[in-house]
Amino acid sequence: MTTETSRPTSVFELDIPTIDVTLDHEEIVAFTRTAAKNHWLVRNPMGFSILHYDDVVASLRDKRWHSAVAKIPEMRGITDQEFLERDRESILATEGEAHTRLRRLVGKSFSPRAADRLRPFMREVINDLVDSVAAGGKADIAIDICEPYPIPIICELLGAPKNDWQLFSRWAEAILSIFNDDAIERLDTIKQAQSELDEYTRSLIADRRNDPREDLITSLIAAEEEGDRLSTDELVMMVNAVIIAGTDTTRNQLGCAVGLFAEHPDQWALLAEQPELAPQAVEEVMRYFGAVRNTVRFASEDIVYRNIFFPKGTLIMPSMVMANRDPSVFSDPGTFDITREPAGQPQLTFGSGIHYCIGAALARAELQEAQVILTQRMPKPAVDDAIE
Ligand code: HEM
Repeated sequence: MTTETSRPTSVFELDIPTIDVTLDHEEIVAFTRTAAKNHWLVRNPMGFSILHYDDVVASLRDKRWHSAVAKIPEMRGITDQEFLERDRESILATEGEAHTRLRRLVGKSFSPRAADRLRPFMREVINDLVDSVAAGGKADIAIDICEPYPIPIICELLGAPKNDWQLFSRWAEAILSIFNDDAIERLDTIKQAQSELDEYTRSLIADRRNDPREDLITSLIAAEEEGDRLSTDELVMMVNAVIIAGTDTTRNQLGCAVGLFAEHPDQWALLAEQPELAPQAVEEVMRYFGAVRNTVRFASEDIVYRNIFFPKGTLIMPSMVMANRDPSVFSDPGTFDITREPAGQPQLTFGSGIHYCIGAALARAELQEAQVILTQRMPKPAVDDAIE
């Protein structure tokens, strides 16, 4: 981001419309698309949405904008200090040197090679899920396939046995409810799940210290940079972050994919015939219908960008959904085409900048394997309800 000094306008004084969140989803999308034709910013009830590709990337790469993930519990009215403090230490929320250090230490464990190692297991899981509904000839793909898909893979990644899949499912559901509007009412359940998961992880870590295996825990224990290592607390925090960031995102993205393909049966048939298109099909699905629509940042200091002044504390929501349909980057952005020529710039559903999704290689592998098997084994998906 460039900093300009000549009489910037306060963002609060801009003549831009406000998104009316009481409208339905389609109306909000139409409203926001119109707003994006006039300005790169639109007001929303919490702050300002960023609508154009280049500005979304610029804000995500500008280190003065800090992640607001740790503010979510406070926004939900939670005041429990111990709980809030713990969130602030997560890789999802830390900034500056503390964040760089964590990324440096854990980066290798999330490499494409590490993800590829799990591909045979991913195929096994998705085939088993299809088998379990095949006899009935009909399935609710969102509930029967997408929902259960990520947990076994996260467990295999961590090195947790099949017997514990149910436990992880329960913990993940409880921990993820921090994003629900009624999180404050669920705080005890969330804390209980977190402490059970912590205890489980500590015992897994102790196990792997004595008996190293080919899994994420072992690789995180071994991770060392210039004599620096992750402490046991940091290892526990990483496992928590993987569950928070890698479960719902993956199942929702697979759900978006199936819903989208159901509306485009020609593309579904094409992928079934040409499974080698899977990598670009995943990118196109994530561009056209990404499961993560935006993220939230706050100004850690006064910021001037494009001659607009954002006072310290201002909240912005870089909109990946809008960026992914920006016509200055993607030609004919409203067309879903898995054979689309690469635009030269990536789709943004995995984010950008220092918080770029660390599980992107794993998520890509999961989605590619699932999409190929589903197109081949379920020739005709249909949509009953619109996916929003
Ligand atoms: C399709 C599935 C996924 C999507 C769409 C997705 C999307 C994202 C996005 C947008 C961010 C950045 C958030 C921000 O800038 O505020 C992020 C960060 C992150 N993701 Fe993913 N994610 C997916 C799957 C996964 C998986 C499978 C894992 C782990 C196994 C994972 C682990 C993480 C972690 C730990 C971060 C925080 C990185 C940091 O702050 O440095 N994600 N993800």
